[in-house]
Amino acid sequence: GTVVLAYSGGLDTSCILVWLKEQGYDVIAFLANIGQDEDFEAARKKAESLGAKKVFIEDLRSEFVEDFIWPSVQANAVYEDRYLLGTAVARPCIARQQVEIARKEGANFVSHGATGKGNDQIRFELTCYALYPEVKIIAPWRIPEFYNRFRGRTDLMEYAQKHGIPVPVTPKAPWSMDANLMHISYESGILENPKVRQVLNVFVGSPCLSLSGKHGVGRIDIVENRFIGMKSRGIYETPGGTILLKAHLDIETFTMDKEVRRIKQGLGIKFSELIYNGFWYSPECEFVQHCINKSQENVEGKVQLSVFKGQVYILGRESSKSLYNEELVSMDVQGDYDPCDASGFIRINAVRLREHHRLQGFSSTK
Ligand code: ARG
Ligand code: SIN
Repeated sequence: GTVVLAYSGGLDTSCILVWLKEQGYDVIAFLANIGQDEDFEAARKKAESLGAKKVFIEDLRSEFVEDFIWPSVQANAVYEDRYLLGTAVARPCIARQQVEIARKEGANFVSHGATGKGNDQIRFELTCYALYPEVKIIAPWRIPEFYNRFRGRTDLMEYAQKHGIPVPVTPKAPWSMDANLMHISYESGILENPKVRQVLNVFVGSPCLSLSGKHGVGRIDIVENRFIGMKSRGIYETPGGTILLKAHLDIETFTMDKEVRRIKQGLGIKFSELIYNGFWYSPECEFVQHCINKSQENVEGKVQLSVFKGQVYILGRESSKSLYNEELVSMDVQGDYDPCDASGFIRINAVRLREHHRLQGFSSTK
């Protein structure tokens, strides 16, 4: 059979490529450009030299932004109050293209190098099953013959040497890194001890992290709950996404009805969990996204902000769709509002509080 492998150009997926060939598969290597810092032509040559039947290097940057990052910004998507989901949104984007290639090339199999303990395997595979229901998935890191043979980096290096796979000349960073247009993530290796301080230079920056990256905006060090059930420690750098989140929250509150906003906020949390857990392509995610989309009809405007010492400071905003009524809110003019009405409003709200106090008695208050 033919297998489309999500190939990164690194040691792991290079070994997987050769191993799949050894198992008798024709291998098509697929490398997605989602804005990571990578020598794509070198990766192409490498995959070809390892015996890939075909190599697809696809520039997915604009669809990554349009179809995945933008809906996340609209949702104010944040997982467990802090993580902006930069890896999680990239996976369905990559897998969508992977199954597209598999279909076009008549391949029945897809493969990836995600480990058997993480979230990525779930995200890749749920997307593949959703968009190509008949597909068969080969996840080497969950196959005993594979993981028993490759118990560590030395095994991979040894295998590489034996099979003419170019081995990395630069020493491996003591953590694993995942980079794209939206963020860089660091986990595992020395970071697995959650109390060990981040090494300052983990923040290497990426092509998209210009000004805000320099100011340290959007850097977090967190312990999060993986879908699979364990906690993991991750360090993330999402400067542009953090600025967009703050700006979007500001213009949203400015232009959106109060009660719609409350419902939409709940949907945003739901959406974030769906993205994190790999359910981008699911009926419930489609439904939630549809509602969030509707909520955005009038969300537009300009926010002025500055970044300084790790913070995003909102300085002011304007919008032709603003619901802000300066006359109504002003302390200096009356507007279409009668202050006398507030007395009744407050007394009606107090009905329940006064009853509560009466029934509880005086003893409960000082
Ligand atoms: N823990 C984060 C997530 O689940 C980041 C995963 C990083 N992935 C990687 N292949 N290094 O989204
Ligand atoms: C991996 O397991 O391949 C990376 C970590 C994750 O997906 O959570």
